[in-house]
Amino acid sequence: MIVSFVPKYSTTQQLNNSTTQQLMKCSAVLGGTGKAGTYLVESLLSEGYTVKALARTPSKLPEHSRLIKVQGDATDAAAIQNLLDGCDAVISTLGPSRDKPDTCSVAVKHLIEAMHEKGISRYLEVAGLAINTPEDKKGFRTRLIVGILTSLVPAIINDRQKGYALLLQSNLVWSIVRCPMIRLTGSEGPVRVNLQDSPGNHISATDLADFLIQQLNDTTYAEKAPFIAN
Ligand SMILES: NC(=O)c1ccc[n+]([C@@H]2O[C@H](COP(=O)([O-])OP(=O)(O)OC[C@H]3O[C@@H](n4cnc5c(N)ncnc54)[C@H](OP(=O)(O)O)[C@@H]3O)[C@@H](O)[C@H]2O)c1
Repeated sequence: MIVSFVPKYSTTQQLNNSTTQQLMKCSAVLGGTGKAGTYLVESLLSEGYTVKALARTPSKLPEHSRLIKVQGDATDAAAIQNLLDGCDAVISTLGPSRDKPDTCSVAVKHLIEAMHEKGISRYLEVAGLAINTPEDKKGFRTRLIVGILTSLVPAIINDRQKGYALLLQSNLVWSIVRCPMIRLTGSEGPVRVNLQDSPGNHISATDLADFLIQQLNDTTYAEKAPFIAN
């Protein structure tokens, strides 16, 4: 099933009242110093959000009056607690590292606990094509890419699947946005969304950021892992 990405705030399933939009104004971001995260932080700030960003090296983040930098590691429960104070939603563009292949699932575990404790429900995560869900009907190209990745970095692929399993068991309103190659470009036009297979070979980081921000106030893909592409 392919659906086109609709313009901001125009679906029937959006959390459509102005009160919700006003409340969802402080987003916690993990991975904000990375490729996708840099675009996300910039877009959130230009949309008027306050951003609390966790970074191992906060100096990599830009200076902005509505950007609160939190120094720490995503695998540290105390850092996650600190990050989430005062936030309404969480977006993770965390990337895995070969030396710490369990980064994503450990961060998800801490996030679920902290979000539950602080009454935060909306969680968005950016991932690659490898996570498997019951709805998937991955085509040859996707299966080929996933097969190559799994042979190269099996521990990282397993870790992402583990994080997905933790979210399934949680009470969060989560969405995992599965992406093909992320291109560091401005908008490249409409975003296609598919729940079964990747609808394209790339996504612009600008369009990914816009898609994520729309999902903050839209439950169309709650408890789902849509693939998106330009
Ligand atoms: N790039 C692509 O083409 C592509 C394609 C498909 C899917 N994805 C997925 O999209 C997501 C974002 O990708 P990306 O390319 O933007 O990743 P990236 O450039 O490698 O950035 C990863 C981010 O995660 C942070 N990070 C990693 N380990 C951390 C830890 N223990 N504590 C705190 N922060 C930590 C990094 O911080 P530091 O600055 O401290 O390293 C960085 O901000 C990832 O999940 C990736 O798998 C990427």
